[in-house]
Amino acid sequence: ASEAGAYDLAVIGGGPGGYVAAVKAAQLGMKTVCIEKRGALGGTCLNVGCIPSKAMLNNSHIYHTIVHDTKNRGIEVGEVKVNLDKMLQAKESSVKALTGGIESYLFKKYGVDYIKGEASFASPDKIDVKLLDGGETQVEAKNVIIATGSEVTPFPGIEIDEERIVSSTGALSLKEVPKRMIVIGGGVIGLELGSVWSRLGAEVTVVEFLGGIGGAGIDGEVAKTFQKSLQKQGFKFKLNTKVMGAKREGDIIKVEVESAKNGKKEELEADVLLVAIGRRPVTKGLNLDKIGVEVDDKGRVVIDDQYNTSVKNVRCIGDATFGPMLAHKAEEEGIAAVEWIKNGHGHVNYEVIPSVVYTHPEVAWVGKTEEDLKKAGVEYKVGKYPFAANSRAKTNQDTEGFVKHLVEKDTDRILGTHIIGATAGEMIAEACLAQEYGAGSEDIARVCHAHPTLSEAFKEAAMAAHGKPINF
Ligand code: FAD
Ligand code: NAI
Repeated sequence: ASEAGAYDLAVIGGGPGGYVAAVKAAQLGMKTVCIEKRGALGGTCLNVGCIPSKAMLNNSHIYHTIVHDTKNRGIEVGEVKVNLDKMLQAKESSVKALTGGIESYLFKKYGVDYIKGEASFASPDKIDVKLLDGGETQVEAKNVIIATGSEVTPFPGIEIDEERIVSSTGALSLKEVPKRMIVIGGGVIGLELGSVWSRLGAEVTVVEFLGGIGGAGIDGEVAKTFQKSLQKQGFKFKLNTKVMGAKREGDIIKVEVESAKNGKKEELEADVLLVAIGRRPVTKGLNLDKIGVEVDDKGRVVIDDQYNTSVKNVRCIGDATFGPMLAHKAEEEGIAAVEWIKNGHGHVNYEVIPSVVYTHPEVAWVGKTEEDLKKAGVEYKVGKYPFAANSRAKTNQDTEGFVKHLVEKDTDRILGTHIIGATAGEMIAEACLAQEYGAGSEDIARVCHAHPTLSEAFKEAAMAAHGKPINF
């Protein structure tokens, strides 16, 4: 491209980080192109992550509720069956509607150019693209944002065939409900996708190396409550247990495990094995070493606090760099990185990035855990309120869980909020707002919350932190 044809910004990757950055840049008047190799926009999140998993979680929850939880509600149902093909189709149509919407609506509306192909750097401001339709092109851009995301971390020696030994991608499209499923890793993917297949009838065993479930950042008390709740639903957990290897014999998977405590070995069998031990950044093929972009020993692109890599005008956001691998974190960074380019300032508050596990009950948190505060020697108070004492939870006959605020003793400021309960994922937004604005527990307690709602438990937990709740 000639200088006149150069873009202000080229974004490599069309996931939640990349497509949001591209839209924001176009909104701010920058001539913008987004290059994506998958053939669809939305990245991991919309194609094989957040969105299809939530579709399967929602529909499997409805099925599970109908089968197990109608008797005491005055609802009588006849035979209830899973039509897995239809359930998978419903998931696919949600995915297509959203990914297609970015291409046919958002990018058109804001004037983002979209190139379908695989990008690699020829120089810091020139990007070669191998087009999906064949052929090649070169894009010239004054600024580049790398938003190439992440991929499944492989388990050494266990080969994923996406049929019987699956990653999250295969686990979102199983052709039948397995009788027995083993999950390696009791983190977010293991618990969400384990829930899907457990609800649809599989016997699910989670093998986790650590002594607790829920992945990084979960509060210890919440993790224990969460584990009990999943056990009641039929989950089996093997904690403090290492997976040594697995092999497929016909349609059966044999999994070697060993106790991390006493070295005792055991062989487990399953019809499907889900490997969910984390994700790693994707930068392969970008030619980063050629142009001098530094990558750390975990494969993450090294950036400063303005998303600059070690090469001028090349930035990086989302799963490809540091921080939690979450869609909303990637989106925030996409906007902030563009604002740095355009305006010279941008902002993400890394203290207030919520985490949500979309099981039932849901688990959500933002800010510090009790373990964090103890380690840092911060004096704090706990304001806790059970959903069993909340009128709406009672009327919904869904009373599991609690809201817990961790409050700084001296200042009353909310330092962390941890929720396990039916709508924890929606409710956590209030905690984000409170923490972002530096609210104290008294501030929350003095805000009128509608009755009867689950959010009253949020308010009452704040009342409990600095005095007493009313209904408990
Ligand atoms: P990605 O979404 O990975 O997008 C990167 C894109 O770049 C990809 O489409 C890729 O094809 C493209 N690309 C890579 N290299 C090139 C190249 N050289 N040229 C062109 N294009 C390239 N997060 C949440 O916040 N909530 C959830 O509920 C949630 N659920 C999840 C469920 C599952 C099963 C999984 C796997 C993940 C989930 N995540 C969730 C995580 C979330 O998907 C990621 O954090 C998010 O997608 C990261 O966004 P990103 O834009 O950084 O990268
Ligand atoms: P994770 O990091 O959440 O959990 C992996 C778990 O596997 C950890 O508990 C770890 O201790 C365990 N583990 C690692 N090696 C092991 C071994 N050899 N044997 C047994 N256990 C082992 O990673 P996960 O679940 O794969 O998810 C990847 C990422 O995707 C998450 O960290 C999150 O960022 C994102 N995600 C987010 C979701 C959400 O926001 N709701 C949903 C799904 C994924």
